[in-house]
Amino acid sequence: MTEFSSDLGPPHIRALRLVNFRNYREAMAYFGPGLNIAVGENAQGKTNLLEAISFAISGSSTRTSTDSEVVLWNADFARVEGRVARPEGDERKIAVGYAPGQKKRIKVDDAPEKSLANYAAGGAGVRAITFFPDDLRIVKGAPSDRREFLDALLSALRPTYANTVGEYAKAVQQRNHLLRRIRDGYSSGKTLETWDRKVSDLGKIVLEGRERAMPHLDRHFALSMRDLYGPEKAAVTYSGTATPDDYSEALRTAQSADIERGTTSVGPHRDDLKLALGGVDLNVYGSQGQQRLATLGLKFAAREYARGEVGEDPILLMDDVMSELDERRREYLAEYFLDSSQAIVSTTNLEYFGAETLGRSRVLRISDGRITSGATAREDGGATGFRRGA
Ligand SMILES: Nc1ncnc2c1ncn2[C@@H]1O[C@H](COP(=O)(O)OP(=O)(O)O)[C@@H](O)[C@H]1O
Ligand SMILES: [Mg+2]
Repeated sequence: MTEFSSDLGPPHIRALRLVNFRNYREAMAYFGPGLNIAVGENAQGKTNLLEAISFAISGSSTRTSTDSEVVLWNADFARVEGRVARPEGDERKIAVGYAPGQKKRIKVDDAPEKSLANYAAGGAGVRAITFFPDDLRIVKGAPSDRREFLDALLSALRPTYANTVGEYAKAVQQRNHLLRRIRDGYSSGKTLETWDRKVSDLGKIVLEGRERAMPHLDRHFALSMRDLYGPEKAAVTYSGTATPDDYSEALRTAQSADIERGTTSVGPHRDDLKLALGGVDLNVYGSQGQQRLATLGLKFAAREYARGEVGEDPILLMDDVMSELDERRREYLAEYFLDSSQAIVSTTNLEYFGAETLGRSRVLRISDGRITSGATAREDGGATGFRRGA
């Protein structure tokens, strides 16, 4: 191994330039491997910075499906550019630009990437597992929140999964449309056959992807929760309306009821994840604290599953994760982040981290859309291709 590659270590983001992204007019951030702490008062841009990193790595915001929201007010585009360190020793240059009304522009090493699905599934050279306080809805919210979590995870691993999920949703919409036409006497039942086949073929692939992930997620969720919460056994299981093998049959069985209701009642678009702690349903009975830790436990399980699938450690982007936790759990998390390939964690309060942890971390100060990146021993600004300072 060359000196250069051993220095770069596992994939991680080294630098990010933000232009007109949320409250950043123009800012530069430098990150190191291991723990990076973004600290600042409220409403200064900590969450926006984490969102920008995830936007650069995946091509989309994890917080909003309305891209125009990330554009600085009164600006006509937003752009993020990053440098990703790769274990082979080279560096990947990534850029995502968005102007409302136009197609998003994604570039890897200056070459346009046409497929967002390809880019989101590792095109940037690094994947991210994110935690935003709003993610609590994965545990607390509706089945669709949990399906979204699972689909986003699997889409980050394989572009074909993302494409199939999209096509499946469209096919279900079209089947629903046809069901209502049949019910209202505008179409004959015969045409349903074609859509049933399409829906069941695509749905089977979605179900298979989810089925493959579940035992891993369950095992890692149990292990994470043991560390994060305590000895009560935690479990995550798939609660499905059909299995991959009997989906086609289940659709057929549901036909007449579906026609009556005008909607498709079975399939992956109706499924759910059940989260339990000590045998108790976390969605219904979990305390706020348990639900928050379970959200984190799921994210850590997702990280482990992704690592096993692609052979690379995803980075962690964790927004305000230390608040509302007791001392013991904060210490555990700090160790967890220090041991990770890269964790970028936001906080209003540096005191959540011990002196020893701070000594081993890089601190970025965030104030009114400006970022001051602290240096670490690993800093070598020249190699990032960006000049430091103004
Ligand atoms: N598109 C945008 N343009 C300009 N400012 C924005 C935009 N979106 C959000 N903001 C502002 O960014 C500020 C910082 O937000 P945020 O990153 O959430 O702060 P915090 O440091 O508390 O996490 C807020 O005052 C918010 O109003
Ligand atoms: Mg915030």
